Amino acid sequence: MNVFKFFALPFLVLFGHMAIADVSTPPAWPSVQLSVEALASRYPAKTVLIRHDPVYQTEKNYRTIPLQPIIKQLAKHYSGDLSQGIVVFTSKDGYQATMPYMDASATPGYLAFQDLGVKKGHWQPFQFGEHKTTPAPFYLVWPNSTDKEKWRYAWPFQLTKIALKPADQLFTNAVPQSANADVQAGFKLFSRYCIRCHAINGSGGSVGPDLNYPVNPAAIYSESVLKQRIMNARHFNPKTKMPVFENILSDSQVEKIQQYLKSFTH
Ligand code: HEC
Repeated sequence: MNVFKFFALPFLVLFGHMAIADVSTPPAWPSVQLSVEALASRYPAKTVLIRHDPVYQTEKNYRTIPLQPIIKQLAKHYSGDLSQGIVVFTSKDGYQATMPYMDASATPGYLAFQDLGVKKGHWQPFQFGEHKTTPAPFYLVWPNSTDKEKWRYAWPFQLTKIALKPADQLFTNAVPQSANADVQAGFKLFSRYCIRCHAINGSGGSVGPDLNYPVNPAAIYSESVLKQRIMNARHFNPKTKMPVFENILSDSQVEKIQQYLKSFTH
C-alpha cells in the first residue's frame, strides 16, 4: 500500500493489481511502474548532456526525470537494511539490470524520456542485435560517471519499472548457508561489489565466471593468491574487465569475501 502514498493519482490504475499482492504476500518490496505523465507531474524535468553515450556512441542531449528522488521514495517504504538493498530496473521485455542502492543513490542518475536530437515524440533508432530499436519509454543515464568507475553504473533502456529489494531475496542461490558473522558480512560485500559481474550457483551477473560452479576459486587458489586475484585482477590479466579493488576494499573486507566464497566449498 505504501506506494500509493507518494505517487499521484494516475498510478492508482497501474498499481491496481499490486494492492492485492501487498495484502496477501508481506513483505512487499516497494516498486514503481514508470509513466512519463505521472513522473513529470511530480518531479521537475531536466535537460542532461551525455558526452559519451554508450548506446549511441556519441554526444546526446535528453529531457530527463531525476532518478534520486524516485529511489529515495522507494527507500522510505523499504523495511530492509539499505546497505544490502538492490535497485532492480526492469525493461519492457523483462530484462532486469541491478545496481546496489548505495551506488545508485550516490551519483545523480536520470531517466531520459525524450531525445532532444530528434523531433519530439521520436527517438533515434540504434542497432540492437539483429534489429533496430529505440530506448523508449525510459533510458537510464549517468552524466557524471567517470571512465574509471564505469563498472558501477547500469545504463538499461526501455525501462518500465523500478523496484528495491534485499540482495538475499534477489540472488537466492548466492545466500550462504553458514550463519558465521564473517561469512554473512562477506555476502553483503559480495552483493555490493561483485555480484553484478559474478554469479554464485547461477544467481548474479555473467560478465565474469560463476564463482562456485563449476569451479570455486577458494578451492583451487591459496588464500594469498585468491586475495591478489580479487585485489588486482589486472596483475594476472592486463585486459580484464574486473576492476582493481585495492583502493575500494580493505584487507579485512577481502578476507570476509574469501570466507564467504570458501563457505560454499564445505
Ligand atoms: C565489472 C565486472 C567484475 C566485477 C565487478 C568483479 N569481477 Fe571478478 N572477474 C571479472 C572477470 C571478467 C573475470 C575473468 C578473468 C579475467 O578477466 O581476468 C573475473 C575473475 C575473477 C576471479 C578469478 C576466477 C578464477 O577462477 O580464476 C575471482 C576470484 C574474482 N573475479 C572475484 C571477484 C570478487 C570477489 C569481486 C568483488 C570484490 C569481483 N570479482 C568483481 C569481472 C568482474
